[in-house]
Amino acid sequence: MAGITPGEQVFFYHDERLHYLRRVLEKGDFECHKGRIPWGQIIGCNYGEVVKTHMGVSFTLLSPSLADLMIGVKRRTTIAYPKDVGYMLLRASIAPGVRVAEVGSGSGALTFILARYVQPQGHVYSFERRPEFLEVAMANVARLGMEEFVTFELRDVEKQGFGVRGIDVCVVDVPEPWGIVPHAAKALVCAGRWVSLSPTTEQLQETRKALGKHGFTRFEVWEVMLREMLIRPQGARPRERMISHTAYLAFAEIAEHNPDASNAQQTIDNSPAGNRLSLQDEESSI
Ligand SMILES: C[S@@+](CC[C@H](N)C(=O)[O-])C[C@H]1O[C@@H](n2cnc3c(N)ncnc32)[C@H](O)[C@@H]1O
Repeated sequence: MAGITPGEQVFFYHDERLHYLRRVLEKGDFECHKGRIPWGQIIGCNYGEVVKTHMGVSFTLLSPSLADLMIGVKRRTTIAYPKDVGYMLLRASIAPGVRVAEVGSGSGALTFILARYVQPQGHVYSFERRPEFLEVAMANVARLGMEEFVTFELRDVEKQGFGVRGIDVCVVDVPEPWGIVPHAAKALVCAGRWVSLSPTTEQLQETRKALGKHGFTRFEVWEVMLREMLIRPQGARPRERMISHTAYLAFAEIAEHNPDASNAQQTIDNSPAGNRLSLQDEESSI
């Protein structure tokens, strides 16, 4: 194995309280309140090796998990949480080769995970209406090496639609998901899946109404609660604090035969780019 190189993210682990996710730099030092270590000393090390700060505090160099990387993105918006995303991936069958359209790139935390799961044959089309957030999302996804599998576009999907068809899964993380439903109905392949994340029950009511009106079925809502256990010699018990409520996960599948979507599917299969769709003006393709 080549060893740790500049630009890589490394998880410095001392114990459950003292740990850091840091990007390796060419020059300078890793620094924390327990001392510093020159980056030159870390470059070339293998994961699992133990290094010491100048104050003698040891850290094991670990490879960050996808959850660490997701939580560690530069944030300009609230982000989706690993506990929700884990279930979403399974329930919506987001796997290699799947074409996902994401509405609300935000900080790109979810975009990164979606890209990691659909690559190498699949693709993520990620839409964001605010340029300042789009920039952050693009930078985060590029920093994590997934840009090849994502097409970002500055677009208000509620007003302009998706501009893509033949989508397997729409993942919607915006305050008004019901405004996206009519466009998702056109963009999805037959039996394609809808997933939305909403923090309040009022949003779920509106979303359900819109999904029902636009031919979706199998509407289900789930909330994921994750509680860490502390295993101590004196006894095991749950941690007092937890990330409790984040978002409800709403799922549905499009039921009615959708001729627009099946035509688009053919276009993809026959295109020289294989599973890639070109972005086009949705109105012109209707
Ligand atoms: C909660 S953030 C998404 C966070 C993202 N899932 C993440 O994990 O980093 C919601 C984003 O949706 C965007 N948004 C809201 N309505 C939209 C619309 N109609 N079209 C495109 N983006 C929209 C907002 O600008 C905001 O950046």
